[in-house]
Amino acid sequence: MEELKKAAQILKEGGTVAFPTETVYGLGANALSEKAIKKIFQAKGRPSDNPLIVHIAKMEDIKPLVREIPLEAAAVMEAFWPGPLTVVLEKTGIIPEGITGGLSTVAIRMPAHPIAAKLIALAGVPVAAPSANISGRPSPTTGAHVVEDLKGKVDAIVIGGSCEVGVESTVLDMTGKTPMILRPGGVTREMLLKVLHSVEIDAALKGEDVVPKSPGMKYTHYAPKAQVYIVKGEEEKVPVKIRELVEQYRRQKKEVGIICFDETYNHYDQGMVKSMGSRTDFKSVAANLFKILREFDETKVEIILAEAVEEVELGQAIMNRLTKAAGYRIIHV
Ligand code: TXA
Ligand code: MG
Repeated sequence: MEELKKAAQILKEGGTVAFPTETVYGLGANALSEKAIKKIFQAKGRPSDNPLIVHIAKMEDIKPLVREIPLEAAAVMEAFWPGPLTVVLEKTGIIPEGITGGLSTVAIRMPAHPIAAKLIALAGVPVAAPSANISGRPSPTTGAHVVEDLKGKVDAIVIGGSCEVGVESTVLDMTGKTPMILRPGGVTREMLLKVLHSVEIDAALKGEDVVPKSPGMKYTHYAPKAQVYIVKGEEEKVPVKIRELVEQYRRQKKEVGIICFDETYNHYDQGMVKSMGSRTDFKSVAANLFKILREFDETKVEIILAEAVEEVELGQAIMNRLTKAAGYRIIHV
């Protein structure tokens, strides 16, 4: 508690504090201070036109930040806050330019993690927080990941165990006619459809060649040191193809890693094999993905062959991150 109070004081005074949320660790600063926000971009090496999510502690904190809350936005906030959902709305004048990168909208989220909620409440200001990684690296899901990336670059790091969800929040744009998912995450399209009549998925997420609405989508993300390939197709064919590729790479004297599931773990006897959990347990797969990508960065592995999950429910967020990590390299079998 004393530690959290200190961290909150740092935020209040314009400093930077990394802290756990239920999705990934965030790097926070006072969202109403242009000067404080600049420090986030500096610490992360983040392009300044990539806007930040503003985190709040309680429902009424959103009021000064947005021009209006349409009924449908109120409904999703009621259903999924606090939690892994970010809502994009038209912003008011108190939101600094540095937050939105010149957009007329702002992204707001109320995290569920008790440390995040407490810290923001104690700070008494909305807290801008991107994921607490060096830009381009996998988002941090443990305190150790944050220390690895940001030690010495931020004013404080609050450590609080592993993040339960493990992938970043769903970004839902509520400023258009139809609510639009700009980034799939912990609150799935299927869950949103229980509250909303319709929910679209941004064309840029489907790999179509359009200008991304969420500026973050155009940047390389989660790029591990190794080159990642996703191997996708019929359940029985995937391990066969991966074994064949492993053979091939080993003949070229390349170190190979495999990212698979509990069900397929025993299909591989060469290369460095890591399981993300059961193929049917999307929650565990999401929670393990970034950790495993970082683990491979500690090894000599040059090529990673990754199995795919079905793109339904949380599988959409998992495949979105994995596809980015793979730089869109997919091998169909
Ligand atoms: O789970 C999360 O959302 C984590 C934790 C710390 O809360 N934060 C996070 O922040 O992932 P960041 O900065 O890594 O990702 C923010 C995403 C980016 O893709 C950004 O482009 C998008 O949200 N975004 C922010 N403001 C936006 C806006 N006004 N319109 C559209 N997209 C926006
Ligand atoms: Mg990020």
